[in-house]
Amino acid sequence: MRRKVIAGNWKMNMLPNEAISMITELTPLVKEANSEVVLCVPYTDLFYALLTAQGTNIKIGAQNMHYEESGAYTGEVSAKMLKSIGVEYVIIGHSERRQYFAETDETVNKKVKAAFANELSPIVCVGETLEQREAGKQYDVITEQTRKALDGLSDKQVANTIIAYEPIWAIGTGKTATSEDANEAIKKIREEIGKIYGQNIAQEVIIQYGGSMKPTNAKELLEMSDIDGGLIGGASLKAKDFANIVMCLQ
Ligand code: PGA
Repeated sequence: MRRKVIAGNWKMNMLPNEAISMITELTPLVKEANSEVVLCVPYTDLFYALLTAQGTNIKIGAQNMHYEESGAYTGEVSAKMLKSIGVEYVIIGHSERRQYFAETDETVNKKVKAAFANELSPIVCVGETLEQREAGKQYDVITEQTRKALDGLSDKQVANTIIAYEPIWAIGTGKTATSEDANEAIKKIREEIGKIYGQNIAQEVIIQYGGSMKPTNAKELLEMSDIDGGLIGGASLKAKDFANIVMCLQ
């Protein structure tokens, strides 16, 4: 059976002292969790978050990285750098990065490869806009994004990729996809992976839902057959809210 992975995405929030307080408060609340617990924090919080989470079941991730190992890329951080301080996860291709920072399916694919080359677990985001959904194109969009993100990976790497299905219209809006809609979209992503890499691999891939997941709707979403966890923005900033999501299935 696939494990569940509940990951927080703090986005551009939380100063180091806030990160330390949040993780200190969260630690006892999630220590019995059956799911994997991850917090993807800003670069400036990484070191503090890693120290505070040491010896706990909370894993730390970054929210982006460059695909080159080093070089003249002012302002960028590489997978090798993240790995060197103990980061384990990295979000790749979040819709905000695609929208505001010119992230493309091609750069997403390069970053996924660089993450694996440095033994980081990538959390790859895919999702349609409201316009695409209204035009009935949501499945085409997310299966294409998935296919391009995974292009050229080995079977083992595909099996170890975490995908986050995040409909863009549901991010930070308070609008959540219904659990049936989210499950259906995730099934389509799994089917697409199955067509290319085979059913066995497809059954191993962890596919999360993201977009206004909160304590009040998490259980219903996480109980669905194909939803293997959540990528949580707003509700990951408060220890109690995030803990309620992590612990909702226990
Ligand atoms: P949200 O963000 O939970 O605040 O909607 C989710 C995300 O962007 O990963």
